Amino acid sequence: MRFDIITIFPNLFDSFLDESLIKKSALNRVNTFFVHDLRRWAKGKYKTVDERPYGGGAGMVLMAEPIIKAIKEIKTKILKTRASKKIKVILLTPAGKEFNQKTAKRLAKFDSLILICGRYEGVDERIGKFVDEKISIGPYVLSGGETAAMVIVETVARLSPGYMGNPNSLNEESFESDLIEYPHYTRPEVLKVDSKNYRVPKVLLSGDHKKIKDWRQKNRKIIKKK
Ligand code: 6GU
Repeated sequence: MRFDIITIFPNLFDSFLDESLIKKSALNRVNTFFVHDLRRWAKGKYKTVDERPYGGGAGMVLMAEPIIKAIKEIKTKILKTRASKKIKVILLTPAGKEFNQKTAKRLAKFDSLILICGRYEGVDERIGKFVDEKISIGPYVLSGGETAAMVIVETVARLSPGYMGNPNSLNEESFESDLIEYPHYTRPEVLKVDSKNYRVPKVLLSGDHKKIKDWRQKNRKIIKKK
């Protein structure tokens, strides 16, 4: 999967993309990530990307023109440089459709996602025709779409074939484990904190695989995908 992120705060993505499995997936060419500073497509001495809203009101609105130019240029580049035919352009906004695991699996089927980080005050409505989908990550307000973009990148990137132990096909069965979560324990067997002992459930030390499986089944939490 190729991800192109359009933002006015590109530095926010530096450490996010430079650690752990996300980084590994980029090194292994399982995913590719491009972070674009929206100001690259801005005009004038001050490279303005936001302006006061028509009709008045508080805050600033992201201008349509730099965003539309960015989308067009990035799309052209994607179509030229690789076989990424299936491209989806997504605006991150609190007014979008709420993101969940089912949406992640649907997005994982594309070759390429272009993620536009909005500001909570708003984005000029006229970018609408250049956007395929509007997504929110939940019923609360963020100042900007940057952390929302990270949530989507992390959720979708790990579904790419070859990410960690992922199989090569994204069928329902292979990802059943997304639905099941049970309590985990690791060393030490007895954890001592403030002169109290916190023990690992005996069954997990028993070596009885059938009993362990039953215990995990009984104690699992179902993660709803909707
Ligand atoms: Cl995508 N953007 C903003 N600004 N706030 C949000 C959001 C997105 N999702 C939930 N709250």
